[in-house]
Amino acid sequence: MSFSRRSFLKSVAFSGAPLILSDRVWAAADKPNEIPNVAVIGMGMQGRGLLGAFLGQPVHVTAICDVDTNRRKWGIERVNKYYTDHPERGTAGNVKGYNDFREIAANKDIDLVVVAVPDHWHAFMTIAMMRGGKDVYCEKPMTYNIHEAVEVMRVSKETGRIVQCGAMQRSGLEFRTACELVRNGAIGKITHVDCHFGGPSQPHFDPKEPQEMEPGLDWQLWLGCAPDIPYNPDLSPRGVHNKYYMLWRMDDLFGSGYCGDWGAHHLDIAQWGLDMDDSGPVKLEKGDRAKFASKDPVRGGRAQHGALVTYANGVTLLHKPWGMWGTVFHGTEGTVSVNRGKFEMKRGEETIARFTKKEDGGSLERACATAAKAFLKDAKVQLYKTRGGHPGDFVTCAKNRTQPCSHVGIGAHSAILCHLFNMSYVHDASFEWDPVKNTFANGTGDPAWLTRNYRGIWKV
Ligand SMILES: NC(=O)c1ccc[n+]([C@@H]2O[C@H](COP(=O)([O-])OP(=O)(O)OC[C@H]3O[C@@H](n4cnc5c(N)ncnc54)[C@H](O)[C@@H]3O)[C@@H](O)[C@H]2O)c1
Repeated sequence: MSFSRRSFLKSVAFSGAPLILSDRVWAAADKPNEIPNVAVIGMGMQGRGLLGAFLGQPVHVTAICDVDTNRRKWGIERVNKYYTDHPERGTAGNVKGYNDFREIAANKDIDLVVVAVPDHWHAFMTIAMMRGGKDVYCEKPMTYNIHEAVEVMRVSKETGRIVQCGAMQRSGLEFRTACELVRNGAIGKITHVDCHFGGPSQPHFDPKEPQEMEPGLDWQLWLGCAPDIPYNPDLSPRGVHNKYYMLWRMDDLFGSGYCGDWGAHHLDIAQWGLDMDDSGPVKLEKGDRAKFASKDPVRGGRAQHGALVTYANGVTLLHKPWGMWGTVFHGTEGTVSVNRGKFEMKRGEETIARFTKKEDGGSLERACATAAKAFLKDAKVQLYKTRGGHPGDFVTCAKNRTQPCSHVGIGAHSAILCHLFNMSYVHDASFEWDPVKNTFANGTGDPAWLTRNYRGIWKV
């Protein structure tokens, strides 16, 4: 890439302006009638769902990657069956299986890559794919730590690649309506926000008994940058699994607990409503272990909620335990509460609109429309409206070279917020934060918490 083109990309990458590039960007962007080739990495619960969603897009799925042979084979069969049943959409037999994702990064015929692997791989793969000239749909949280969040933003600017983070609540009507109401002052000035999700990650433990290695699993490539620990079927289950295995999410070595898992959804919506997509808080006060630690020894004595962040404008955001709502915005004149399939707006004691379940009567769409009709008619702030769902938004934006609804800057800043919460519980620490430099402020915190010890060649 020439210096001048790189500088150009740097200047426009996060502006939201369409990128118009002269040399090869993406086959379908060069030739509008051409269909992009897609690779899906990770055939676990989420990757299999995303595979179905991408098969429904105007793309050809030509590559399936998983370090588990059974799941990789499942993916290939799924694609071939789909194209056998829908020959108008693609050709059966054209899809290839990969154990090593680096072959996908090097394959010039692949345009778009879906990354649906455990979190400790997100940044490494996303960066490898961007450097290989691909646009990336990467699952949430965008990264495993804060250092990686900064790196994915940097490489995206440098390469001009389009990245969509899989925090798909941004594509939901109830979440956009809630944030648009908040951003347009429909409940007055926002004072504080509550986000409801589970606790932080927990210290790593190995199985009590040694486990026989799963045949056909490349365990070293599953572990990647993490320490070389024994195989554990609760981390990488045997065969094609059909339930969410939670252990890698909760394990310090691979995830950031529910802070990264559901925080990546509900904190992301809080940031959207607060207009903090390219920023973050300036201070975090820890959750009190004496009050909020779990009695379960597996949790390592860490508080499970209660941490509070403060933004520069004085607005606070509190981590509360699981509840009916995901994100609740409190304003001087009312509240807006939202979760998947649930929406409520109140002004003072008056309920303007509410839908939580069928038995309430009405519908989610009607509740959102009622609030919008009353308070968003002449809305000055109109938030990004996804068309064709979250994957569809990504495919369209990659083709048009525009930024999608959960672009890399949004995904990375939401991930940073998730990690601020998680690290406060892990290290039982309060600290000040610089949301511009993405580092601790005023001598608080420890820079070592922002990154990890990367094993072998897998350094981000
Ligand atoms: N957006 C959402 O609502 C949502 C919901 C569930 C999961 N997710 C996210 O999706 C991702 C995957 O979650 P999951 O529940 O499907 O996990 P999972 O454990 O079920 O599946 C992960 C898959 O990745 C494979 N894998 C691991 N390392 C690999 C490597 N180096 N190369 C290729 N494949 C590799 C594993 O073998 C496994 O098949 C996570 O980041 C998770 O947070 C998002």
